[in-house]
Amino acid sequence: MSGQFILAQISDTHIRADDDGLSARQLERALAEAHEYRADVILLTGDLANDERPDEYDLLARIIEDVSRPLYLMPGNHDDRALIRNAFPRHGYLPRSGFLSFAIDDFPVRLVVIDQIVPGETHGLITHAGADWLDRTLAEAPDKPTIVALHHPPFLTHDMLFDNIGLLDADLFASVIARHRQVERVICGHHHRVAVGQVAHAPVVIAPSTSWVYGLAMYPGQKIAPKTAEQPGWMLHVRSDTGGLASHFMGL
Ligand SMILES: [Fe+2]
Repeated sequence: MSGQFILAQISDTHIRADDDGLSARQLERALAEAHEYRADVILLTGDLANDERPDEYDLLARIIEDVSRPLYLMPGNHDDRALIRNAFPRHGYLPRSGFLSFAIDDFPVRLVVIDQIVPGETHGLITHAGADWLDRTLAEAPDKPTIVALHHPPFLTHDMLFDNIGLLDADLFASVIARHRQVERVICGHHHRVAVGQVAHAPVVIAPSTSWVYGLAMYPGQKIAPKTAEQPGWMLHVRSDTGGLASHFMGL
């Protein structure tokens, strides 16, 4: 199909330097599959590292340095902005101060990435400044198909834990998205399991983690955030002008 664009979303890699290479191997497998599927772009949607340790970021930098596709990364609640800046000096799209939010205009689909982490906290937050940035940035290209990425899901999942460590002021995020019809998809991570929701007119997809899957706890007595035997993976988003946008779970 002409004009096909493929985004490989790889999330919650939780790279550790002390897990016998498990998290690194999972990321390497996801990157190899993204290459095999001819991804145009790879985006890592946060929780890059597991414990905000420099050696974890150094390991991640080594893993991704030979990737032949354009690769972008953003922080999650397990990440540290300063350590990311230090470990990835060649990632010039990352602002040198403040939030690690950015837009990529080089492809048929525009990528708008908003950093909404709160240092030291597990939940996320859309600030008024962040919402203003998102509104201004989306207004720059109102006619270009756009995917917005953030780390925390901007909708209630009905999970007892993850809704409590979710995105604060998600209504503010939704009010911005509602003003920009070109946003065709919102993508995120954080929950380590695939789920689908909606914000304004835009479907939202939670990508899995490459490292492990969390169970769903909806009722008192159910175990909260147990690691399950479900398959980790990544998400392949494919779009063409005639075929629209589809999102596929890719198990690892
Ligand atoms: Fe995570």
